[in-house]
Amino acid sequence: MGGGKRLSAAAHSDNKIQDNLAPMPPRLERLSAVAFQFFPDCLRRLGERRAPLGRLAGLGVFLAIAFGMSAATAAPDAAQVERGRYLARVANCAACHTGTEGAPFAGGLPIRTAVGTVYSTNITPDAANGIGGYSLEDFDRAVRHGVARGGKRLYPAMPYPSYARMTQQDVAALYAYLRGGVGAVKQANRAPEMRWPFGMRPLLAAWNWMFLDDAPVRTDAAKGVAWNRGAYLVQAVAHCGACHTPRGMLFAEKGLDERSRHFLSGASVEGWSATNLTGDQITGLGAWTRAEIAEFLRTGRNSHATSFGPMSTVIASATQFMTTDDLDAVSAYLKSLPGARGETTPFRHDPATTAQLEQGRFDAVGARPYAQFCMPCHGANGKGFARVFPPLAGNPTVADPDPASLINLLLDGAVTARVNTAPADYHMPGYGWTLDDQEVANVLTFVRSNWGNRAGPVSAQAVAQRRRATEGQKP
Ligand code: HEC
Ligand code: HEC
Ligand code: HEC
Repeated sequence: MGGGKRLSAAAHSDNKIQDNLAPMPPRLERLSAVAFQFFPDCLRRLGERRAPLGRLAGLGVFLAIAFGMSAATAAPDAAQVERGRYLARVANCAACHTGTEGAPFAGGLPIRTAVGTVYSTNITPDAANGIGGYSLEDFDRAVRHGVARGGKRLYPAMPYPSYARMTQQDVAALYAYLRGGVGAVKQANRAPEMRWPFGMRPLLAAWNWMFLDDAPVRTDAAKGVAWNRGAYLVQAVAHCGACHTPRGMLFAEKGLDERSRHFLSGASVEGWSATNLTGDQITGLGAWTRAEIAEFLRTGRNSHATSFGPMSTVIASATQFMTTDDLDAVSAYLKSLPGARGETTPFRHDPATTAQLEQGRFDAVGARPYAQFCMPCHGANGKGFARVFPPLAGNPTVADPDPASLINLLLDGAVTARVNTAPADYHMPGYGWTLDDQEVANVLTFVRSNWGNRAGPVSAQAVAQRRRATEGQKP
């Protein structure tokens, strides 16, 4: 897998980072080690040529150079910590490594997977529970290869299969930030609760051998700076595929970049459907412009849709903080992906439904509850009110073959993403308490098959199943 060469490079830069993050004594220690190596020779030569006073001056020059050099390397390190802070945002480390009520990066968040529950760990610089004892090489092995210090294999609930493709430089910046920009928190880690045989961590070595690809993100000079930066962010740091790419054998993502038609083509994640991000017109981002994708990632809303569920978390804790250039890069890259489902005909709004609703003709399945419960906000024309009440007509979420997100929304309601740029949150009420399974199914079937939407019906059984699953998840 070619990791060896890069690891030794990591070991090399390791010393530098540790020295600059550690308090003064180690640096002095290093200086004296350097002095031991060079002084005898140096002094001898000085002694041969100069008087005692000149010898001292020579020593002064030597020390000035030595200190000057370390001051010069210390300055970029503050910048490195800042770069690490930004990367940690984009990589969303805190979202997983912070418990529901805990301190940032102290771990403890339960992550439910198909094979059991795993808890994120403490990655503050605490020596006993966190990464206080981690060298940069240890850190690199954990973040990019899923092996914790001491050799424990990590579950891929930690998205190391995506981080595996981060550059050495970015891993070093993350390390510098977590060690130098985050306070140590004493908080013990919780053991995972996995179903047999998934509790056996050594099995993960085989998983890595089969699936881990740590080849750097492919670059394509012909595609320009934005595309290449976008490819790197989407595939590695921001790990969009961890949720949006379907998983195949043993839960590995079916594609890691644009060469696979599965890549970002939509997947089920924690009971939600993470929609298709390829260029499909109906269920993908084919109808969204580059600027509209960036707007969605910065604010959680645009004229096509609003975010909810896990995507709202991603936006609130990660993408809203991305620079304008990086948002544009991600959007440029997404816009370059051809549709995975071959939907080339754009959505066309059909006014027949609007007319029926306005005339009070409710014979279509679900039309009556739509008029009663949904129309005040989403409109008779299904176009909603841009950025406040999302349109349902031509909305990829509504057209998604997997209705899981729609059912969750209807049962539990939703609040628009909490972002710095939005003046207020808007609420979609939950109807789980007032509509039964069949009624929820009917109203969803209505929105999926009107105004030009052509998605399949939703069954009462599917609603019942989601209701049981989401109730099981409530504390
Ligand atoms: C999607 C959730 C998720 C995200 C995002 C995430 N992690 Fe993790 N991480 C985990 C989980 C879960 C574990 C524990 C896995 C296990 O116990 O096998 C873990 C383990 C680790 C460990 C091993 C610590 C130890 O000693 O056990 C390190 C280091 C780590 N993560 C660093 C990071 C960094 C740095 C980032 C951001 C670049 C990050 N993680 C992002 C979920 C996540
Ligand atoms: C933790 C899982 C997760 C991660 C990571 C994630 N997403 Fe999502 N995303 C979702 C889910 C679930 C939805 C569906 C809910 C919604 O539409 O807001 C979604 C929806 C979206 C949508 C809206 C699509 C539509 O048709 O409404 C866009 C655009 C999007 N994601 C882009 C991204 C990008 C770009 C990244 C990487 C920077 C990313 N996502 C990372 C889970 C995730
Ligand atoms: C009080 C106003 C209001 C009512 C009534 C309402 N909604 Fe919503 N709806 C919203 C808001 C606000 C959102 C955005 C939520 C978010 O982003 O988290 C939303 C989001 C949605 C979405 C997701 C759209 C997207 O962009 O992904 C669907 C689907 C939806 N509503 C369907 C319905 C249906 C069906 C009903 C009736 C049973 C209904 N809504 C009633 C305000 C409302």
